[in-house]
Amino acid sequence: MENRKIIAMWNGHIMPLEQVSVSPLDRGYVFGDGVYEVLRIYNGCPFLLDAHMSRLEQSLEKMSLPPLSGLYADILSVIGHNEIEEGMVYLQVTRGTAPRVHSYSNLALKPNVLIYGKHFPEHPSAQDAKSGIKAISLPDLRWGRCDIKSLNLLGNCMAITLANERGALEALQFRDGFLTEGTSSNVFVVKNEAFLTPPLSNHILPGTRRNYLVEKLRLRNSMVREAPISQQDVNSADEIFITSSIREATAVISLDAKQVGSGRVGPMAKLARDLIMKGIEEQCGVLIG
Ligand code: PDD
Repeated sequence: MENRKIIAMWNGHIMPLEQVSVSPLDRGYVFGDGVYEVLRIYNGCPFLLDAHMSRLEQSLEKMSLPPLSGLYADILSVIGHNEIEEGMVYLQVTRGTAPRVHSYSNLALKPNVLIYGKHFPEHPSAQDAKSGIKAISLPDLRWGRCDIKSLNLLGNCMAITLANERGALEALQFRDGFLTEGTSSNVFVVKNEAFLTPPLSNHILPGTRRNYLVEKLRLRNSMVREAPISQQDVNSADEIFITSSIREATAVISLDAKQVGSGRVGPMAKLARDLIMKGIEEQCGVLIG
């Protein structure tokens, strides 16, 4: 089943992904003028779909892009066409196609909407979650609107490439000495049994897993602080873990080649992952290891 053809929905039409053709004047292609979402599918069910859709709505609004209707049905249709049980759905909206002019003032274009799904033959990051991952720290070189899930990911791509070249799977980014986020994840630090995570701002993406976890931890009376975290706090953390749709909650066991805490997946990272797994079981009716 590994060579399945990926089926896409391109502006409402179902077709093989390889047959989608995009104009060279699409503003996503020319300027990165668009937004996206990545959804994780368990048992054919998109986990935290509402949270993804409301973030998409906000990203569209922040970029003065028009709201879209019918996306829930479109996502379910793509999951069905790709027969995804375990996998992901990628959804991207660009402003549309137009002669190359920087300003989008008075540009009333028809957005180009691409949705495709991918079946995962196995949980791609389950093993990493069991063992924990290595990360490096880097200065955050990205722009000032990281709260928008925009297609402009060059800073993220540069940072993860550097991390991979240094044998790590994520880069924790710092702006003016304070932690922002990973290249495709949010970050939690554990200190004296309290969970710390950077506050929502224009410097981080409001992660669906981050927000879910903050809520669930508070409901069980765990101590959670959304506050600035210095590089020193990170370096002296008992535990660090990252959260994302693809990695859910995954411990960072080494930072800049130095052991974090015990150097193993700690109890608080495990608790965070268990809370998310419980949510998946409740919403999607499937138990994930
Ligand atoms: N990225 N921060 C950044 C910069 C991200 O790109 C992501 C997710 C997150 C976590 O958000 P969420 O919990 O909603 O997945 C935080 C996705 C997985 C991606 O770009 O592939």
